[in-house]
Amino acid sequence: MITLHAAEAPLWQAQVPLKVLWVRQGKLSPQGEALDARLEGLLRRAWEGAGLKGESGESLLLATPEGHFLLVAADGDARQAGGRLAQLLGRYAFLEALVEPLEDGYALAEGLWLGAYRFLRYKGQPGERPLALHLLGVEEGALERARKVAEGVYFARDLVNEPPNVLTPEALAEAALALRPLGVEVEVLDEEAIAALGMGAFLAVAQGSANPPRFIQLRYRPEGARGRLDLVGKGLTFDSGGYSLKPTEGMAAMKGDMAGAAAVLGAFKAAALLGLPVELWGYIAACENLISGRAYRVGDVLKTLSGKTVEVMNTDAEGRLTLADALAYAERQGAERILELSTLTGAAVVALGEEVAALFATEAAWGERVRQAAQRAGEKVWPMPLEAAYREKLKSPVADLKNVGDRSGGAITAALFLAEFVRVPLVHLDIAGPAFAKKAHALGPEGGTGFGVRTILEVAQDL
Ligand code: BES
Ligand code: MN
Ligand code: ZN
Repeated sequence: MITLHAAEAPLWQAQVPLKVLWVRQGKLSPQGEALDARLEGLLRRAWEGAGLKGESGESLLLATPEGHFLLVAADGDARQAGGRLAQLLGRYAFLEALVEPLEDGYALAEGLWLGAYRFLRYKGQPGERPLALHLLGVEEGALERARKVAEGVYFARDLVNEPPNVLTPEALAEAALALRPLGVEVEVLDEEAIAALGMGAFLAVAQGSANPPRFIQLRYRPEGARGRLDLVGKGLTFDSGGYSLKPTEGMAAMKGDMAGAAAVLGAFKAAALLGLPVELWGYIAACENLISGRAYRVGDVLKTLSGKTVEVMNTDAEGRLTLADALAYAERQGAERILELSTLTGAAVVALGEEVAALFATEAAWGERVRQAAQRAGEKVWPMPLEAAYREKLKSPVADLKNVGDRSGGAITAALFLAEFVRVPLVHLDIAGPAFAKKAHALGPEGGTGFGVRTILEVAQDL
């Protein structure tokens, strides 16, 4: 648990148990140099003597007559430097430290928050020590903003990290309802209401589980809003694959198959805390994909909310079925443009790996806006083609569409499938790779990353 405070006292005057100095390209900052002069070059000798090359992440803790110093190498990325520093400080016993500035104070603060995240709800171990960090040269306003954005990301990460026996579709709806006190309108539809609407594809995916589905709708409508953004998130609280069953290794991460929904909820939380002057509308079809005597089959033909029929050729291609109905519903609610996030395909992970999300856009200008927003947010996305020539892979002999193509171009055919259910500009972010970290990284531990929250906020800010 950390808290960040703006500090003004010069580096050498501050009364703190630890001072963090950055080493950039093998050099201390001017303030660091001045301090080192008072120490007669002790810092430099220690750094060089330790044989550190100044590569990002390297660090050295020193006890000197002027107090404790932590020398930390940082390359260009202030957010990553902050994340690494938070994790490094977690290993020491200091309860308070002063941190030298980096150029981008906001990114440093955001990185510190994200790097400090832990998910300890189910650990018997005692909780974390509180750590107070005093940041030089960062404005109070930037710290405030970083804290609120981080709260949104933490919310998303917690939801992804919750085990699937706890985070059922109903529990996900409860998490959404918890946003009401922040001024977010939340409406939850039960199975009966979902059926009455005609969401036949969503219901089919849900019908194998004893835990009933929930359709979650959110609205954040501040006075004087300058635009509207509609968000759809995939909300599979667990994806076993259904009768097209996944192997155990493939199933282990599938509690995170609601990461798109988590990103949407996290963005709502942060937007409400920040008081963003834009309307956000959100839609989540929450359910589980399980096996039972009631589960949907390979060969079933489903009637979607849009009226189009779909032949199920693989029950593990369930996300696009739930999203087809959520997207059609969003359009009915008057969406002008939609940003949709989903852990949709393993093919996206094969194509772009664990760090980069695949971006598909039915309209170039909308795609470019989201791409640039992601770049500003420090979340990696890469544009992929909605190649029309592959649309024929989705042809079914008995229905309007089938839910899978062939083996090749799987992320693209999934995106093409989604595009069949909306007319307004759609950006689909396939976050199957970056939503869930297999190991610790600069900005957090293994598990849910909250990927997408910061991009959504940047898109909203830019409306
Ligand atoms: N939730 C998975 C996609 C996924 C895979 C997310 C790996 C995160 C990590 C999705 O529902 C799925 O199973 N997709 C299938 C589609 C296939 C049957 C066409 C896949 O990618 O194998
Ligand atoms: Mn699946
Ligand atoms: Zn899935």
